[in-house]
Amino acid sequence: MSRRPILAGNWKLNLTVRESLELASAVRDKCARHRDVDVVVAPTHLALHAVAQRLADSPVRVAAQNCHWADQGAFTGEISPAHLADAGVAWCIIGHSERRQFFGETDDGVAKKARALHDRGVLPIICVGESLDQRDAGQTLSWVTGQVKAALAELTADEAAVSVVAYEPIWAIGTGRTASPEQAQEVHAAIRATLAELYGRAIADRIRIQYGGSVKPSNVKTLMAQPDIDGALVGGASLTADSFAGIVAHRAED
Ligand code: PGA
Repeated sequence: MSRRPILAGNWKLNLTVRESLELASAVRDKCARHRDVDVVVAPTHLALHAVAQRLADSPVRVAAQNCHWADQGAFTGEISPAHLADAGVAWCIIGHSERRQFFGETDDGVAKKARALHDRGVLPIICVGESLDQRDAGQTLSWVTGQVKAALAELTADEAAVSVVAYEPIWAIGTGRTASPEQAQEVHAAIRATLAELYGRAIADRIRIQYGGSVKPSNVKTLMAQPDIDGALVGGASLTADSFAGIVAHRAED
């Protein structure tokens, strides 16, 4: 089963609107020749609309880093899936460990966001991952597959098929410490087995599972060589066009 790779840059709380536009243009230009992969960039909310306009005629798609599940209402400070769709945003990262850790994101909230995004035609990138303590305690697979089940609880099989799951071990995010390809593959395979339990093998085989956590041009190839790793969610190394393009180009170097 060949799945189209999806490489996404999570810019987190970095870059002004002007800097975001510059990086978006550079990513578009440097990645234009890589037609066999999906390329996504995730600027801050403030830059989403401008970046989506800048990239409108390119294959590079835009993701938000978070949203609320309601379309509108008395939710000060939030933005909604309806707003994202209106701004030309194709994807939305939900359940990132930084949001779970610092902003109280719960499995239940992630499930509601996944549901609401699909209702507006914005596709979720659903993040899951274990802490170092959980890994050391041998809880990685049960924890991560539990997060996957919870996040997808309100989606149909067809909706799940076009969603993306991002496995991001918390201990590998921003630490320079990457999961080994074997460690990552073990968890990706367990996630796919869980997806097969939920939706059947044919759907599970379509769902793309990204790895995230200190992905760089130098390690992306061995990660992507694993059978169940279908892409990368990249933080630090997505902040310059050269290093992100080096990740996007992982196949071209063969
Ligand atoms: P990192 O971040 O690549 O800087 O480790 C990944 C992420 O948080 O998505």
